[in-house]
Amino acid sequence: MRLQKYMALSGVASRRKSEEMIKEGRVKVNNRVITELGTIIDPRADKIIVDDKNIMLETNKVYIMLNKPVGYVSSLKDEKGRRVVTDLIEGVRERIYPVGRLDADTTGLLLLSNDGDLAYKLTHPSNKVDKKYIAIVEGVPNKKELDTLRNGVFIDGKKTHPAKVKISKRYDTDSILDIVIHEGRNRQVKKMCEAVGHPVKKLKRVSIGEIELGGLNIGNWRFLNDEEIEYLMSL
Ligand code: URA
Repeated sequence: MRLQKYMALSGVASRRKSEEMIKEGRVKVNNRVITELGTIIDPRADKIIVDDKNIMLETNKVYIMLNKPVGYVSSLKDEKGRRVVTDLIEGVRERIYPVGRLDADTTGLLLLSNDGDLAYKLTHPSNKVDKKYIAIVEGVPNKKELDTLRNGVFIDGKKTHPAKVKISKRYDTDSILDIVIHEGRNRQVKKMCEAVGHPVKKLKRVSIGEIELGGLNIGNWRFLNDEEIEYLMSL
């Protein structure tokens, strides 16, 4: 594995920043300073030191994406006895839990991990991680209603942050909206649409920052790839 990739996957810094650190002579491989960018290391055998600190790949951390179906609850247990999202993840030994949540009747991208810092990174306002939803709503919002959604609506006395909203399809009685928000308030998308008179009939999350659901089938899951993990580490 390339040294800068190893550093990025270990959470030291982004790949680009890691390259700078290597060039600055801050990185040692087996006690020797390395300033060449192409250096290949063996994660199991080589000792990597950055700024005098030993760097380890956090191999016990797992990052999973699930295309959540309707009817599953985003928690580890449900007092009403409903099915929980972790029921869908088989064959993973680590104790993973949902990072953030989707309503039981919402489908789409849900991340699961045993990385305790991840939820904080994804929800911290300074990171402004965009979450994109596709919502089927009753009726077709007019220009004024769309602008209200974009500029912010009052939910429980507090205005929502600016959102990106566009109509992707219009039908006679319904429409499909693309909605991007970075907050994660309780039932936020539903409450926003409700507030402008267009209740949500179906809701699906399709991306979280640079992580996209893509073609993953409903009810299926996969491990995030290196690029996706690096993105999370860069937050
Ligand atoms: N907004 C909602 O209303 N529900 C979700 O599940 C996610 C965002």
